[in-house]
Amino acid sequence: MSQPLWTARVLTLFPEMFPGPLGHSLAGKALAAGLWSLEAVDIRYFAGDKHRSVDDAAFGGGPGLVMRPDVIDAALAAVTGAIGPDRARPADEPLIYLSPRGRPLTQDRVHALAAAPRVTLLCGRYEGVDQRVLDAWSVEEVSIGDYVLSGGEPAAIVLIDACVRLLPGVMGDAETLAEESFEGGLLEYPQYTRPQEWRGRKVPEVLASGHHENIRAWRRAQAEAATRERRPDLWARRQAPSAVKEGKSR
Ligand code: ADE
Repeated sequence: MSQPLWTARVLTLFPEMFPGPLGHSLAGKALAAGLWSLEAVDIRYFAGDKHRSVDDAAFGGGPGLVMRPDVIDAALAAVTGAIGPDRARPADEPLIYLSPRGRPLTQDRVHALAAAPRVTLLCGRYEGVDQRVLDAWSVEEVSIGDYVLSGGEPAAIVLIDACVRLLPGVMGDAETLAEESFEGGLLEYPQYTRPQEWRGRKVPEVLASGHHENIRAWRRAQAEAATRERRPDLWARRQAPSAVKEGKSR
């Protein structure tokens, strides 16, 4: 193997959901080419009782079931090999629980995750996972957006897809990556292709002018206008990066 393999390890009650969409297109080709690998681990395998139960009612009441800490602990111990009381594991291998309670996933975090040798992703169903096992393993909670999914699996697929396209050899064109949305804190400029006129709508003239300096300036202005209008949060962070980064909102 000429380059290190990036591995996504997913703990789930639905291992058959993987690779799913990740077996197709760019990520699927890279998987087949050995540029990354996927391990889907069935949490139910680690259930200790004869009914193979992985969840139970929430203390304090309320609807839905909570995933048991002993089962998740056994699964994490088996896959990471960390069995001591402190649950020590390699510092460069992130351990993430996908949850709407998590910190929002950003392109910066995706870059860091893609640079790690392996990420372990815990997917919850039902009402979530017992907090004690998350605390005991210092699990990082990550959300893919302010909406609630029926489980962590689609979120894990999103996170893996975002990482895989950044791996060396997957996309090919480093310039494409440098110009896309969120790189440099801006949304991307709009794109056009042939035909040059379609249903009375023309491609902006500057793009067909061949004047590279003007094209760069136009694209920059478009990126800034879109960011200001659609994502005032990103725009504010660009204007005053230190104030926002210091976590004044948290
Ligand atoms: N599980 C359920 N909803 C989620 C979200 N928004 N992000 C990550 N994991 C989730």
